[in-house]
Amino acid sequence: MQLSNLKPLGALALVLLAAAPLCAGAPPAADEVTRRANALLTQMTLDEKIGQLNQLFVFGTPPQDAVIRSGSIGSLLFVSDPAVINRLQHAAVEGSRLHIPILFGFDVIHGWRTIFPVPIAMAASWDPLMVEQAQTVAAREAYSVGIRWTFAPMVDIARDPRWGRIVEGAGEDPFLGSAMARAQVRGFQGPLTGGPDHLLACVKHFAAYGAGDGGRDYDSVFLSDDSLRNVYLEPYRAAVEAGAASVMSAYMDLNGVPATGNRFLMHDVLRGDWGFQGFVVSDAFAVKSLTTHGFSRDDADAAFRALTAGVDMDMGGRSYLNKLAALVQGGRIPMATLDDSVRRILEAKIRVGLFENAYVDEARAKQVLAAPEHRQVARHAAARSAVLLRNEGSLLPLDKTKLSSIAVIGPLADSRIDTTGSWTFANNASETVTVLEGIRNGVPSGVRVEYARGGEIRRTIRGPFDRGPQTAPATPAQLDEEIKQAVELARRSDVAVLALGELQNMSGEAASRATLDLPGRQEQLLEAVVATGKPVVLVLINGRPLDLTWASGHVPAILEAWYPGAQGGNAVADLLFGDANPGGKLPFSWPRSSGQIPIYYAHNLTQDPETRPGFTSRYWDQLSSPLYPFGFGLSYSKFAFSNLSLSRPQVPLGQEFEASVDVENTGSRVGDEVVQLYIHQRAGSTSRPVRELKGFERVALAPGEKKTVRFTLDKRKLSFWSTPEKKWVQEPEAFDLWIGDDSTAALHTSFQVTE
Ligand code: NOJ
Repeated sequence: MQLSNLKPLGALALVLLAAAPLCAGAPPAADEVTRRANALLTQMTLDEKIGQLNQLFVFGTPPQDAVIRSGSIGSLLFVSDPAVINRLQHAAVEGSRLHIPILFGFDVIHGWRTIFPVPIAMAASWDPLMVEQAQTVAAREAYSVGIRWTFAPMVDIARDPRWGRIVEGAGEDPFLGSAMARAQVRGFQGPLTGGPDHLLACVKHFAAYGAGDGGRDYDSVFLSDDSLRNVYLEPYRAAVEAGAASVMSAYMDLNGVPATGNRFLMHDVLRGDWGFQGFVVSDAFAVKSLTTHGFSRDDADAAFRALTAGVDMDMGGRSYLNKLAALVQGGRIPMATLDDSVRRILEAKIRVGLFENAYVDEARAKQVLAAPEHRQVARHAAARSAVLLRNEGSLLPLDKTKLSSIAVIGPLADSRIDTTGSWTFANNASETVTVLEGIRNGVPSGVRVEYARGGEIRRTIRGPFDRGPQTAPATPAQLDEEIKQAVELARRSDVAVLALGELQNMSGEAASRATLDLPGRQEQLLEAVVATGKPVVLVLINGRPLDLTWASGHVPAILEAWYPGAQGGNAVADLLFGDANPGGKLPFSWPRSSGQIPIYYAHNLTQDPETRPGFTSRYWDQLSSPLYPFGFGLSYSKFAFSNLSLSRPQVPLGQEFEASVDVENTGSRVGDEVVQLYIHQRAGSTSRPVRELKGFERVALAPGEKKTVRFTLDKRKLSFWSTPEKKWVQEPEAFDLWIGDDSTAALHTSFQVTE
């Protein structure tokens, strides 16, 4: 059976259930949670209350027991040693006056000990169930060491790939982004918040962090009401509806007001419109930074403005710890406002089971972290996340029984740290399988696999998270020599596999860039290897689209592997040799160059559609269409769509109907297709995007197999936020509907929403 087409790992689910700690019972009902929180609240001093709102980083030495016993810390982040967690928790539970446990948080973004593909990769699987399974494993591993809260999922829409943090989200689309948001919340929190082996999720970064000017990290965001409501806020709303326990306020200004002091966002939208009952934590030092922003006058004003805007917990900056008492005593902040924030945090601690189950079973932790089935989920996830962008002459899959030698080339082909990507803290790097190692593992013993790095790459400007001494860069002569060696290796091999892209520190927080070129001299390396005339496979290791203009016309096979995680090399080999069949699809429109940014498929129509002759491009020096459209991805098989039909072509306002299509595997291999449904409202109170994704399903099909895929279109999917109306509306209008394998799907029908 092909790996990529395995059914969701049912066996894993059984293992996870069987291994759950026995001590945790069913989570208490909401009323009971509030009653318990209130009972504690009435006993608390002002300082103890403020302590619960104070979260501190642990960089190096953890706080002294006496500090914990004083009750001045409600939460700690970046502690992960189970023995240390137990020690600190004993001090809190047994030593503090009211025995309130500490909530330990950590950035568990794409795995803890087992590293999964980065979030943008997992979104490319278009497989929410797989994503849920991956985050279930991540939660289980993190829980085993005492972590109870993850700062994930990041659900920020990114339509500007210069922004480094595009790697942490689900790309450009609110519908796909919402599906990934829900899947991750379910994976982290489980069916019942507070169940064993699960964490509290934290949806971030509220809101619209991904739309910073120029793609520059932390820069101001200016967004219309239309974009904010219909696009950027949607995945947060989905996560909140899925029961996310907490939300993190973002760093940047949104329409002139820093998100962490933004009452409209947290009070009006989050708690008001969406009825969010959980708690809000600031991003790191973001309360204090309100002064740096030129928004608050000083630290006390920052604490006042953040708390009254809706931030319950202050991450790292101590502004609440140092300033809230005087603000409450002076009457500027009513005690009831403070109590509301404290109550929400106590409720979260009760809900996650901390009062019953605060300690870590250190022996069990070792066992959980070593679980081989977790690595299997990671390999499966990496294979399902890859996107095949080009495969001229069916170069892939390679027949390993017919090859005698493979050249593996590129600065990313044998780098463990770059295979896993950013936000990895607890993995054992020696377990990471690089592309080179995966290929070596995957071929019969007679096949010669040789490696040439082909030169180094590095950030032009060092990043704030780069540690260690800076080594001298390679000289041009050294780079020439390395490229020469790589070319010679390709010449004496049957096929060349180049792993190119970006280092892990080129993508992520504080890792925005101005261009999308292949960094360093990788383009030159690629062109030189292709010039040998040998078959070339380009494997991309990266977290954002890169400029592939030349490669897309000259390199026969291109596989987007992303930062594929600890099992990435094995998964890449599974794909290259046909043990798995690529089925991932792009979660963003792939630009031809950075000059096209922002580029997204759901743009509005204009007075001269690009379909009109003479107007096909908005630029005179380049097409304005993307290089690869949103939703695009090839397979080693072929699929045909037919019989697009609607349960009714006229649907009254508020009612639902069904669209169905037949999809058939017309190729000769087992494979997956992602069936995608797009709509367009032809007229209305605002102009509507040319297409909007409103349904998708990844289906596995054997050769010759045909399935009918059905989608329900309901009021919610047919509604939008109307800026002139200032509310969500569904309008009686005519709609187009397309179903196909990417956002340019041609199979079309129409329907009418009637009064
Ligand atoms: C800052 C980042 O913006 C956020 O995503 C992260 O969760 C916190 N630091 C804590 O590490």
